[in-house]
Amino acid sequence: MLTHPLVHTVWLLLLLHVSGNAFKLFKGDPELKEGDVRLFGSTNASEGRVEVYHDGKWGTVCDDGWDMAEAQVVCRQLHFSGAKSIVTGNNYGQATGPIWLDDINCKGTENHLLTCSHKGWGITDCTHKEDVGVICESNNMTNSDATRSLDHSFSLSDDLKNIFESGHGCDFLILVKSATGNRQEDGTMEMTETTVCAHKIILSQFPLFNASEGISNITIHVSQSCLPYFTSFIRYIYTRKIDVTFSSVQCLHWMASKFGVKKLMEDAGTLFSKFLPEDTSFYSQLSLYKYAEETGDLVLQENCIQYLAWNYQNLTRSPAWTQLPVELFGALLARSDLVVPDEYFLLQSTESWITEKGHSISSELQADLLSHIRFPMIPAEKLFALESSSLYSTHKNMYRENIMRAFQFNVLLFTNLSSNPKFQKDDDDFQPRIYTAEPWSIAFSTMSTSSQYYPSYYSGRQVSPKYFHTPVHNSLIFRDSKIQWEAQVFRNRYDCSNRGIRCESLPMARLTPQNQLSQQKNVHFHNRLLLMCQGNYISQVQDFKANLANIAVNGTDYPCPDNLYTYHFVVRPVYF
Ligand SMILES: *[C@@H]1O[C@H](CO)[C@@H](O)[C@H](O)[C@H]1NC(C)=O
Ligand SMILES: *[C@@H]1O[C@H](CO)[C@@H](O)[C@H](O)[C@H]1NC(C)=O
Ligand SMILES: *[C@@H]1O[C@H](CO)[C@@H](O)[C@H](O)[C@H]1NC(C)=O
Ligand SMILES: *[C@@H]1O[C@H](CO)[C@@H](O)[C@H](O)[C@H]1NC(C)=O
Ligand SMILES: *[C@@H]1O[C@H](CO)[C@@H](O)[C@H](O)[C@H]1NC(C)=O
Ligand SMILES: *[C@@H]1O[C@H](CO)[C@@H](O)[C@H](O)[C@H]1NC(C)=O
Ligand SMILES: *[C@@H]1O[C@H](CO)[C@@H](O)[C@H](O)[C@H]1NC(C)=O
Repeated sequence: MLTHPLVHTVWLLLLLHVSGNAFKLFKGDPELKEGDVRLFGSTNASEGRVEVYHDGKWGTVCDDGWDMAEAQVVCRQLHFSGAKSIVTGNNYGQATGPIWLDDINCKGTENHLLTCSHKGWGITDCTHKEDVGVICESNNMTNSDATRSLDHSFSLSDDLKNIFESGHGCDFLILVKSATGNRQEDGTMEMTETTVCAHKIILSQFPLFNASEGISNITIHVSQSCLPYFTSFIRYIYTRKIDVTFSSVQCLHWMASKFGVKKLMEDAGTLFSKFLPEDTSFYSQLSLYKYAEETGDLVLQENCIQYLAWNYQNLTRSPAWTQLPVELFGALLARSDLVVPDEYFLLQSTESWITEKGHSISSELQADLLSHIRFPMIPAEKLFALESSSLYSTHKNMYRENIMRAFQFNVLLFTNLSSNPKFQKDDDDFQPRIYTAEPWSIAFSTMSTSSQYYPSYYSGRQVSPKYFHTPVHNSLIFRDSKIQWEAQVFRNRYDCSNRGIRCESLPMARLTPQNQLSQQKNVHFHNRLLLMCQGNYISQVQDFKANLANIAVNGTDYPCPDNLYTYHFVVRPVYF
């Protein structure tokens, strides 16, 4: 057969090319070495069928003569800390390649499987059913690429504080301007100016600082009262640490919201309620309410108004009382959770507030405030006194109409009234607030009478129950139908089980009627438990569920140092 020499050359080239490839394939992964081991057939790197690399191929190992000594060597060779167990019986799938080793015998201290004795490569009477597997101790500490974290961040905050305070390398000027409130000769406002030099890279976390490329300074207007806290606010951006006081919290909240520093804003928000009981003048509570209103912070607004409602009586005695904004007063009078001795007290305080304000409150506004008074809830014997009240002549019709309605309410059963459109069951005027005067409430001091204030629920001493009487309803027709109540505080499991009560948490309060009256059938009780802190302010108001209230000692809405509470049990009858 004749062949063209060129064809030979092509064949030769082709052959060289193929054999080159074949050589590479044959050699396999260049990192693999004779005697290497691997664990195969598992998704977990620390276990699998034992395979050994020989003659360019992975092959298995027969389980004859295989024990923990051999397993240790395999695991050690793979850089695990040790062997956990041996696995036999094709747990990792059936292998198909050669069975390279059989009858292996190691001492257990070897670093490589091949240093142990064996029958010889491929000499075996085993089948793949006898392939051996191992589970190694998966201890990442021994892996060369294990992660160890070094956390020295506790000192970071101080280092950043030093960077801020030294002003080294600062590249962003904050010009803080504040009006002193004085006018200058030319009529313009007198201003004070301070500069703070900061680092763009730090401030750039909060885009509202505008600390971006090409901007080297900003000007900020801050009120005189917030000026002293500006530097600590910027320092906080560096260190994430700040001391907050009652005088600074509002400013910090304002600055945090202005620059979008969310975490500080949230934390300052929750601090507000902690500070609320601290100012007995009530000026701060009013200013905080105003601030919440301006910034549209509804949660804070509710927080303030709830505190004022629960502590209304003290508010009326405070210097801030006459400064109460009329809208806030109206909002307070609309609430059912006002804690007052009785409705008459509320009317009197409203009248005196209006009188004090004089003509600054229009007649319409006065009438609007008075319309929130729940005349039917005023104790009947006091209704007669209303004609002599200071505002009676100015709002004669309003008073007359309401007094008339209140009398009707007092002398007729509600079932007889409810056909009249003037008497709607859900009308707030027929719902009690939280009345603390006799006979509706009883106080329970759990403070020990001994040496010092000390909540006696820490001691094992049992508190005796207290008994008191209320009419079925405050309407006059029930005057002689009395219910006896038992008020009780349980401070430990023993007290509870003694009385056959399951106390989910401690302490627990219980308010139970001792007798059932037939007149009671149209009346429900929406009773409340008040937690008064150290006799000074109400820090929590709670419902009773099935006569029981889990006293929230830790989580009261307004904090109380040392949890020194007086408990006030309040009975609230409601028609249904
Ligand atoms: C792998 O197996 C080891 C040993 O049984 C076990 O400790 C480890 O948690 C497993 N790892 C994974 C990722 O499942
Ligand atoms: C151990 O290391 C491997 C890979 O390095 C990792 O995937 C695994 O999650 C680590 N296991 C443990 C328990 O840390
Ligand atoms: C940031 O820039 C915007 C838009 O130019 C401006 O409205 C805003 O007042 C600036 N903020 C400060 C803190 O200067
Ligand atoms: C503030 O920056 C502007 C340009 O953004 C520059 O013209 C002005 O001089 C700077 N003022 C100060 C006090 O550095
Ligand atoms: C509330 O009033 C009582 C009695 O006048 C007083 O002892 C107490 O300090 C007041 N508490 C607050 C928070 O104003
Ligand atoms: C209420 O009305 C019923 C009849 O509907 C009447 O028998 C009863 O005397 C009335 N009660 C009062 C207190 O008026
Ligand atoms: C209340 O707080 C104290 C101390 O802060 C804690 O030991 C206790 O477990 C808390 N109780 C509840 C019911 O959270």
